[in-house]
Amino acid sequence: MTDELEQRALITIFGGTGDLANRKLYPSLFHLYKKGSLGENFAVIGTARREWSDDFFRDKVKASLKDIEDHEELADAFSSHFYYQSHDVTNQESYVKLKTLSDELDEKYDLKGNRLFYLAMAPNFFGMIASRIKSEGFVDTEGFHRLIIEKPFGHDLKSAEELNNSLRQAFNEDEIYRIDHYLGKEMIQNISVIRFANSIIESLWNNRYIDNIQVTLSEVLGVEDRGKYYDESGALRDMVQNHILQIVSLLAMEPPIKLTTEEIRHEKVRALRSLRVYEGKEVHQNFIRGQYGEGEVDGKELKGYRQEENVDPHSNTETFVAAKLMIDNFRWTGVPFYIRTGKRLADKATQIAIHFKNVPLNLFGQQQSLGGNVLVIHIQPNEGITLHLNVKEPGQGMVTMPVNLDYVHSSPDGMNTPEAYEKLILDCLRGDATYFSHWDEVSLSWRFIDQIAAVWNTTKDHFPNYKSGSMGPKEADDLVQRDGFYWFPVNE
Ligand code: NDP
Ligand code: BG6
Repeated sequence: MTDELEQRALITIFGGTGDLANRKLYPSLFHLYKKGSLGENFAVIGTARREWSDDFFRDKVKASLKDIEDHEELADAFSSHFYYQSHDVTNQESYVKLKTLSDELDEKYDLKGNRLFYLAMAPNFFGMIASRIKSEGFVDTEGFHRLIIEKPFGHDLKSAEELNNSLRQAFNEDEIYRIDHYLGKEMIQNISVIRFANSIIESLWNNRYIDNIQVTLSEVLGVEDRGKYYDESGALRDMVQNHILQIVSLLAMEPPIKLTTEEIRHEKVRALRSLRVYEGKEVHQNFIRGQYGEGEVDGKELKGYRQEENVDPHSNTETFVAAKLMIDNFRWTGVPFYIRTGKRLADKATQIAIHFKNVPLNLFGQQQSLGGNVLVIHIQPNEGITLHLNVKEPGQGMVTMPVNLDYVHSSPDGMNTPEAYEKLILDCLRGDATYFSHWDEVSLSWRFIDQIAAVWNTTKDHFPNYKSGSMGPKEADDLVQRDGFYWFPVNE
């Protein structure tokens, strides 16, 4: 990893007219420009089939900054670095013009041949674009060549392997940056600090002191306009294979010997390898799926999933998953990691709750049940940690009461902001792949998920089985209650 010089780069965004580019990438690049992380030696090419002029493109880029405070001052200077090239990725000839423009901008901005390619397009194009980038000579320059690719990375292990093989024909593994935007979130990156910079936490971080760990990624929104993609994906592939297993691996991994990309990855891979693989009826016992039906939130009637646009009216796709994961190694044997995620739930929240074991004996009498000690890591909408403890109620006698020690603030820019993308793009420009998914992690995750999907595919569930605006199907509550636990409430 090097810095300064490496932030000179030509950034080519395939899918430059799309939603992701507009909502996340341009605002993120602007933040980097405003902070000085991108100097004057950079250029961005937006490409897509639409016939846009540079001026029209720059206006679109400026419009994408409208929610950023004081953006007017720098918007013209920033957008002057943007160029548009109409280009159909399936047409070999149109790569010639793109290549010519790339070489010109390289010289104009003194970019030293550094090139970052961002594939913000439908995944079926990824392999083709990567091979054209290679065959048409885009990477025949001095300087670095890096490829950022969006999710989903395949649909199962086989398709992920095929995609990976096609990318690897043009790029080495260390040049491929697979985005998992959760890894760019502030509090996900904070997990390592909370664990490894606090002896009182890390010394309790094992099966002697922890009862269970709960990871919740709940969403209020339904599938919105992504019915077509989602109906073939479902929550297992959309959220568990990537975001949730990444979070679990960060929570479960052993302390790395150094905080380098390779050492952290090594430990995450070992954690993923320790995940217990379920077979046959174990899948039904430990993985619960759900699909939202109609409901009412804030007086508004909401459609069921099967009534959403571009969704099969008999769809058996899950919009909710809850599961009990077990990690079979010395540190975690016996500690369930409960996970849950779903659309159209009661709250938008991402949180991790670490439940510590109770004291061996309650000295305060049967009539006073002690609250559990729980460390909550709030990822969003709030960021921070809360430690739930018991103290003495002020006054006469030994009456206990629960208190919360809080270090929580609302996230600076609200949810689902370009923030995570900003960090990740800068990491990529600097050559730091720590918060990107390595192929070893992706392939292990798919291997695990494929086993679950294979069993689910053999049966149909009684969907819909939860109301929009609830916290998912009853079976998800039963999953934790049968072990004597309860889901820790979100946003508390
Ligand atoms: P959009 O459908 O909004 O954008 C797709 C882009 O691809 C458009 O710019 C389109 O422009 C271009 N395109 C389509 N076909 C061609 C072609 N043959 N040649 C050249 N360009 C083409 O998709 P999103 O921006 O929403 O998503 C892009 C990727 O990012 C997907 O992989 C998605 O899963 C992922 N993603 C998106 C998120 C989001 O918030 N939007 C969040 C997380 C991941 P034109 O029609 O002009 O050619
Ligand atoms: C994406 C999923 O990866 O993450 C979406 O494809 C989901 O379905 C989104 O809505 C949630 O991200 P965030 O940052 O809003 O929690």
